[in-house]
Order: sequence, then C-alpha cells, then structure tokens
Amino acid sequence: MTVKKLIEVALPLEKINEESAREKSIRHGHPSTLHLWWARRPLAAARAVIWSSLVDDPSSHPEEFPTEEDQNRERERLFKILEALIVWENSNNEKVLNAAKEEILKSTNGNPPELLDPFAGGGSIPLEAQRLGLKAHAHDLNPVAVTINKATIEIPPIFADMPPVNPQSRRVVAINWKGAQGLAEDVRYYGNWIKEEAFKRVGKHYPKVKNPGGGGYKCHCLDLG
Ligand SMILES: C[S@@+](CC[C@H](N)C(=O)[O-])C[C@H]1O[C@@H](n2cnc3c(N)ncnc32)[C@H](O)[C@@H]1O
Repeated sequence: MTVKKLIEVALPLEKINEESAREKSIRHGHPSTLHLWWARRPLAAARAVIWSSLVDDPSSHPEEFPTEEDQNRERERLFKILEALIVWENSNNEKVLNAAKEEILKSTNGNPPELLDPFAGGGSIPLEAQRLGLKAHAHDLNPVAVTINKATIEIPPIFADMPPVNPQSRRVVAINWKGAQGLAEDVRYYGNWIKEEAFKRVGKHYPKVKNPGGGGYKCHCLDLG
C-alpha cells in the first residue's frame, strides 16, 4: 500500500494563510530583518509544508484507523498540532516543537530524511527543516543568499547553548543560555561596538538630517536612534 502524507490529503489552509500573512508585520527577531530577500516564503508556510510532507495521513494506517470517522478524528488531532506549530510566538516553544517532532519520527520510523533546498534564497525552507529536527542543506548561486543562510542555519548551531564571550555579559553568570541566545548577545554587543566606532571615526562625514517624520534629527548613514 502506498503511504499518503498529510499534505496529499488535507491541510488547515485558512489557518496557514492567516499565520503566513501575519508574519509580514513581525519586525522583531524575524530573519527577514537580517536582509530583505525577494520571494522569501513565510516561515509559517514553510514549516507547515515540511511537517505535513513528512507526517503520514491517517488513511495510510487502516489497521490503526479503520473507519472514515477514525481517520477524520486523527486528522483533527494532527491539525491541532500543526495549527500550534505555525504560530510565530511558538517558534521556540519546546513543548509544541517536541509534539511536532514526535509525529515526524513516528511517520519516518525514527529516521527522518535530510532536506536539501538547492535554491534556498532567504533560507525559510532549510531554517524550518532544522527547527523540526532535520539535517538541512542550503545552496544558492547568489553569494548574498549564501551569507544569509550561513547566518541563519550554519553558524548558530555551532554556538548552540553556549554563553556569550563579550566582557559585559560574562559578568552575568546566573543565566542558562539556550539555543543561539549567547551568540545573539555577542552579535548585539559587538555590532553596537562597531556602530559606535564607525560613528566616532567617520560620522563627521555624514551630517545629521532632520527627521521628516518629526522627532528631532537622525543620522544619514547609521541608525543611532
Ligand atoms: C525564489 S528564490 C528562493 C526562495 C526560497 N526558497 C525561500 O523560501 O525563501 C530563488 C533562488 O534561486 C537562486 N537561483 C537561481 N538560479 C540558480 C541556480 N542555477 N543555482 C542555484 N541557485 C539559483 C536565486 O539566487 C534565488 O535566491
């Protein structure tokens, strides 16, 4: 019997569309703020497509779900997992991610495939594959896309769960740095240092201009607040 995946049978499309559209207005912590890349797929849509391409549709297991009613009930259960998974605020919610990963493992005999996106662009697909526990590979002709993918999927896992090294954060010892939090703290610290140094050294060549939206003056070259 050919196994059908959930994506081949049914999806809660309205919810996926809603979350994908909502993502456009998220401006804090979203990879699209790293560098704007055209035709970037919304993370919610990429997450939903990858997950539902790996999880079996209940009709593929008649021994477990013999009637249509059983299958519909199981599909509803899977939809609930998916609908929680695509919410932006749940992107790092371990409980939600673990429930989703468990279903992938169940449908792949504990051995999920690796994912390759040969046209990775802004990296939505490999990033979401990695979030779902898959080994992800990204490729692109354009060096800017390659840099974005290195920053989002290649470098952060190297520093996973490690504390920051900058002198300010090193004084704080009572924090349990998780995921890329330590790395993010260093990027913030040293990014700010570079910004301030640049302003000191070349800022005089870029006179402040009046902010057209009001609220005083702003610098031409650097967003110094
Ligand atoms: C539509 S974008 C990909 C969007 C991406 N999959 C996402 O979800 O955000 C297409 C990408 O394919 C890349 N590309 C085009 N021709 C290519 C080729 N021959 N080899 C590798 N990448 C290529 C482009 O540089 C561009 O980044």
